[in-house]
Amino acid sequence: MNFQLTEEQIAVRDAARHFAQTELLPGVIERDDQQKFPAEQIKKLGELGFLGMMVDPKYGGSGMDAVSYVLAMEEISKVDASASVVMSVNNSLVCWGLETYGNEEQKQKYLVPLASGQCIGAFLLSEPEAGSDATSQRTTAEDKGDHYVLNGIKNWITNGSSATYYLVIAQTDIAKKHKGINAFIVHKDWPGVTVGAKENKMGIRGSDTHSISFQDVKVPKENRIGEDGFGFTFAMKTLAGGRIGIASQALGIASGALELAIKYSKERKAFGTEIMNHQAIAFKMAEMATAVEAARLLCLKSAWEKDQHIDYTVSGSIAKLYASEIAQWVTNEAVQIHGGYGYVKEFHVERLMRDAKITQIYEGTSEVQKIVISRSLLK
Ligand code: CAA
Repeated sequence: MNFQLTEEQIAVRDAARHFAQTELLPGVIERDDQQKFPAEQIKKLGELGFLGMMVDPKYGGSGMDAVSYVLAMEEISKVDASASVVMSVNNSLVCWGLETYGNEEQKQKYLVPLASGQCIGAFLLSEPEAGSDATSQRTTAEDKGDHYVLNGIKNWITNGSSATYYLVIAQTDIAKKHKGINAFIVHKDWPGVTVGAKENKMGIRGSDTHSISFQDVKVPKENRIGEDGFGFTFAMKTLAGGRIGIASQALGIASGALELAIKYSKERKAFGTEIMNHQAIAFKMAEMATAVEAARLLCLKSAWEKDQHIDYTVSGSIAKLYASEIAQWVTNEAVQIHGGYGYVKEFHVERLMRDAKITQIYEGTSEVQKIVISRSLLK
């Protein structure tokens, strides 16, 4: 088993680290405070090829492997999880889905601008009454011959107002249950599409999360992805890769908190010495480092499986479940190590603690990951 990264993978990780430190760190506290979308920074991420990392260069992507994606996601998430969720959704849910299941015309028209960073996309599955229970879609796409008519509402949509294109999952034939679901490429500026108010969130406050409603939106038939009834499989397959992205985001949040705790413990003195010399702190950090390393290995293993074309559905869920759980605990410990300073914004760890929570919720709650994992055990 080879744990050695290639020179290219190290270069990608270092470039992402440099970008995070120079472009994302300045202003991250203010963006969180003011719920300001990192528009300029996302544009630059796109120019550097981080928004279509795994897409074939012939479609505007960077042609990198999934291991590089995990490495980059960790570095970006250490500093700004609001920026990394934009990156994750665009790479894993939007570009991957289009590249894998879109036809050539759809790839030329939509994947090229999305992968090359000219614009970003969003993935619209969740609804007010269909979150974990994703088969219960209420948004309808009525087949009218040469087009569909879309009606309904989606919520918790990352990139809701900043995306140019949406991948929308909707019910075409309710009698067929999940086999009657389709996926469509929809333009945000089409008549009948309305972006709802921005959610005022606990964490990842720089990202823009909205509800999106559709009223008699005409969608040409050529904008359906795959065969009729393929939408639910499309969503599940796409989410499987998305979970590697969110697992890496959780990993980055945890490893960022650990790095800050280490730095602080070397500077802060109490009882006559730097606090790292107290075992109460040193042992905490040893446990945090062990958990972060385990999460990193799970993320990399799942990404490696993806690169080897091995089914990564279960390993992605395992990585997401574990990384998001330890991100909660590690960030909490990092706040504790910082004492009162951990509770104020300037020291970053309170933000990481708030940001960590969402990784247990989106792209499938921890409970959903346990369904995926336990079903694989019982097969
Ligand atoms: N790949 C391919 N097919 C799959 C699949 C997968 N990973 N998982 C399920 N399916 C197929 C099944 O084989 C089955 O098809 P057949 O009947 O033809 O065999 C069909 O889908 C239904 O499967 P289940 O009976 O297992 O479905 P279920 O209703 O029990 O639900 C679930 C399974 C795992 C809970 C699923 O509904 C799920 O993942 N829910 C969570 C949805 C989610 O992650 N939402 C996040 C929203 S997106 C987001 O957060 C983005 C963002 O903005 C950040």
